Amino acid sequence: MQATRHHKNDISDLAFLVTGGAGFIGSNIVGYLIRNGVGKVRVLDNLSEGRIQNIQPFLRLPNFEFVEGDITDTETCMKACRGVHYVSHQAALGSVPRSIDTPLKTNAANVTGFLNMLTAAKDSGVKRFVYASSSSVYGDSIRLPKVEEHIGSPLSPYAASKFVNEVYAGVYALNYGMEVIGLRYFNIFGPNQKPDGPYAAVIPLFMDALLKGRSPYINGDGEQSRDFTYVDNAIQANIRALLTDVRGATGQVYNIACGERFTVNELFHTIRELVGSDVQPTYREERKGDVRDSLADISKARAYLGYEPNVKLKEGMAVTLQWFKENYG
Ligand SMILES: NC(=O)c1ccc[n+]([C@@H]2O[C@H](COP(=O)([O-])OP(=O)(O)OC[C@H]3O[C@@H](n4cnc5c(N)ncnc54)[C@H](O)[C@@H]3O)[C@@H](O)[C@H]2O)c1
Repeated sequence: MQATRHHKNDISDLAFLVTGGAGFIGSNIVGYLIRNGVGKVRVLDNLSEGRIQNIQPFLRLPNFEFVEGDITDTETCMKACRGVHYVSHQAALGSVPRSIDTPLKTNAANVTGFLNMLTAAKDSGVKRFVYASSSSVYGDSIRLPKVEEHIGSPLSPYAASKFVNEVYAGVYALNYGMEVIGLRYFNIFGPNQKPDGPYAAVIPLFMDALLKGRSPYINGDGEQSRDFTYVDNAIQANIRALLTDVRGATGQVYNIACGERFTVNELFHTIRELVGSDVQPTYREERKGDVRDSLADISKARAYLGYEPNVKLKEGMAVTLQWFKENYG
C-alpha cells in the first residue's frame, strides 16, 4: 500500500521543505518523497510534538536534511526556505482541547508561525506553498456533507487559527501572486501518530488502550461521527497539490477525506474486533469545542487534483494497528 505512486513528474531535480516533518503527517510525506527519489527534502521541526524516531531512517541520507528550529522565528523560516522549490507546511499545534487550554501557544505556532512561513516562502520565491488546514473551519455549520464554500463560525481557538491561515493564504495569493493551496484534513490516522500525551487523537488512543487491555474513554455518547481518513490519502493529496499543473487548482482550499463517516462507537467496535478484545469503553462527558458530525464532500479535490481516497477505513486501520503492535504493543 505504501508503494503507491501519486505523481507522474520526475522529482529528482526538486527540493522540498516539509515543516512539521518530524510529526505524524509530515514524516509520512517525507517518507513518500524519499521513496520516490526526491532531489532534496529538508525538514523544519522544533520537536515539540514530533519525534526524531519518525525521521530516523532518513537522517543519514545525502538528500535529507533536518533543521531543528521554530517557525515562530522569522530568520529560521527564511533559512529553511533557501534553495527550496516547494513548501509543504504541516507544522502547527494540533488539538481542539489544547487550543482551549492554551490559546496563545496555539496562536503563536498556528498563526504567527504560519504567517512567518508564508512570508519566507514568498520572499524566497518558492514555486508553491501547500499547507494543512482543517475540517474544524466548518465550525458550527450543521450542513452535511461539508462543501468548501460553506463554512460556519469557528468553535475553538484551533479552528480560528486554521481559518486565519486560509484568509492569509488568499490574501497572499491575491497581493503577491503566490501559488498557495490549503488542504482541509478530516481526522487523519495512520503510522507515526502517537498515542501519548494529553491531546492524542482518538484512533491512537483506542488502539493503545485496547492493545494493553485498558478501557478507553469515549467523550459523550459516542454517536458523534467523523470522516476518518488514512494517512496515505492525505499524502496523495499533498503530492498532487504540490505538483499539479491544472489551471485554477491553486489559490484554493480542498476537503481531504474519504467521503464516508463513522461514529466513534462504530470506530471503537471496528478496532476492538481487529484487536480481538472484549474490553468495554468508558463513557464520559462531551468535550467543549467539538463538532457533532463531520463528513466531507470531496468532489472539488477530485475535480482539480485528481484526488481519490484509495485506502478505506478498515484497510488503513489494519496497517495502523500493525504499526502500533510493533511500536507500542
Ligand atoms: N492529524 C489530523 O487529523 C489533522 C486534522 C486536521 C489538520 N491537521 C493539521 O495537519 C498538520 C500536521 O498534523 P499532525 O497530525 O501530523 O500533527 P503532529 O503534531 O504530529 O505534527 C506537527 C509537527 O509540527 C511541529 N511543530 C509544532 N509547532 C512548531 C513550531 N512552532 N515550530 C516548528 N515545528 C513545530 C511538531 O513538533 C510536530 O512534529 C497540522 O497543521 C495539523 O493542525 C491534522
